[in-house]
Amino acid sequence: MEVRVAAEGEIPEGGVKIIQAGSLFVGIYLVDGRYYAIEDRCSHDDGPLCEGDRDGLTVECPRHGATFDLRTGDALTLPATVGVETFPVIVRDGDILIET
Ligand code: FES
Repeated sequence: MEVRVAAEGEIPEGGVKIIQAGSLFVGIYLVDGRYYAIEDRCSHDDGPLCEGDRDGLTVECPRHGATFDLRTGDALTLPATVGVETFPVIVRDGDILIET
């Protein structure tokens, strides 16, 4: 299912927008001109992942510091051992959409 998450230009370069779609929370990032959408729920203990700091294509959970790859959702460092979901991003007719 496609979900509209923002208007094109709404998310600044280097920024993130967190949206809710049903029970799902997703952070949509714009990094170096590309969009990435990742589940806003840490696999370690359900922390608000996308409220953490981003360094390049890595985001750090603000609760206990686990890091995740924005492209794949893979867990890169402990205490997380399991990845989180990522979603394809589509830019169409001035809208940003994700596929959930
Ligand atoms: S809840 Fe994210 S590292 Fe613990």
